[in-house]
Amino acid sequence: SYFPAKDKGPDRSLGILKDGYNFARKRLQKQHLDVYETKLLGERAALLGGEKGAELFYDNDKMKRGGAMPAFILKTLFGENGIQTMDGNPFEHRKRLFLSLMTPEALDRLFQITVEHWERASEVWEKKRKVVLYKEMLTLLMKVSCEWAGVPLKDKEVKKRADDFALMIDGFGSIGPKHLQSRKARQRSEQWFENLILDVREGKLEAQEGTAIFEMAMHRDLNGNHLDARMAAIELLNIVRPTVAVSKFITFGALAMEEFPGEKEKVAGSEDYLYYFAQEVRRFYPFVPYLPARTKKEFAWQGYNFSEGQLVLIDVYGNNHDPRIWEEPETFNPERFRNWNGGLFDLIPQGGGDYEKNHRCPGEWSTLEILKASFQYMARHLEYKLPKQDLSYSLNKMPALPKDGFIMKSVKKK
Ligand code: HEM
Repeated sequence: SYFPAKDKGPDRSLGILKDGYNFARKRLQKQHLDVYETKLLGERAALLGGEKGAELFYDNDKMKRGGAMPAFILKTLFGENGIQTMDGNPFEHRKRLFLSLMTPEALDRLFQITVEHWERASEVWEKKRKVVLYKEMLTLLMKVSCEWAGVPLKDKEVKKRADDFALMIDGFGSIGPKHLQSRKARQRSEQWFENLILDVREGKLEAQEGTAIFEMAMHRDLNGNHLDARMAAIELLNIVRPTVAVSKFITFGALAMEEFPGEKEKVAGSEDYLYYFAQEVRRFYPFVPYLPARTKKEFAWQGYNFSEGQLVLIDVYGNNHDPRIWEEPETFNPERFRNWNGGLFDLIPQGGGDYEKNHRCPGEWSTLEILKASFQYMARHLEYKLPKQDLSYSLNKMPALPKDGFIMKSVKKK
């Protein structure tokens, strides 16, 4: 059928690698569109954007996740057959397990644990000539995450385990040796957690009710069976790994406090502002670029004919910078969240829609707790100087990060 908004000609898989976060945006937003057809991984793919595009992406009558995520991502970042790939009743049952971990008490505990680890780490940093914040955050949040989830982690294994997590988080999109390292890091991490799940089930490892390790080990599926130990390990990793990945937002937040005058003081001074600032960091900075789904059936939408089983991508970064949704989207302005209505399809750095029915990230609340604890600590209790370094980041490189990882020197606790 004839639909004008599409790429004609060759496959654009290399184009998306080259344009990164801008690939969909420059097609959709330039023409004020919610859907645009391109060719990716040898398929006719529909790019979706805008609030309407996001709403369609999260319409369970039309979209599913099974068969959507490319294997190279499942074998590194997410794990095979985990919650990200599930649909229907089994999905909703599994999702309730994840959401049950996010009680107000558990979130308070996470805030407290995060502050304690900032205090300990900053004492160590005082004795160092310089520290790279992103690297420090990977180990700090590895400790926080394991403590919160009930996973035992010895001091001497922190570095090895954190290195594997960094490989899963940063290496999945690479081509060549780093991609293979990322796969091996996943295999090692799954094995580590599988042994722990078995230890909990056999009573060899004590675990508190309500912690991720306990709930993953004891969960029963819709048929009343425990999860296969490997599956439970993959889902436990789906809690611990993204908690460590919050490192990226912390690094970007540190950059914002540096680059935008007055932010640090306002973050230090007000709890409300602290929350707006954390939200704006999640909106403004590049993290997740796109998310995939597949159509369940054939249908027409905004003049475009979707075919059954068609690959669909939502433009996550694009929506967070869409001028139809945000006033002056390229301005860093936490104040915009003072009167924000909390739409389901506007702020979508961690997915959109409904927590229970859709794949929206169940870790949004825990991410915010970690960010609030971290930004408040940095703004109130940490003094540091920045040596000459490259703080820039590129929208053409996925996943993005300030080039030198935010190097600090002469760190002092106050
Ligand atoms: C799902 C982003 C932190 C656990 C997602 C999705 C995104 C996302 C984009 C997919 C949404 C969709 O498919 O529609 C992020 C980012 C984070 C973060 C940028 C910041 C570092 C966390 C944390 C946790 C977590 C801290 C756990 C404590 C999960 C899980 C899913 C998920 C289990 C799968 C949910 C499902 O399939 O229903 N996240 N997340 N995430 N996230 Fe996060």
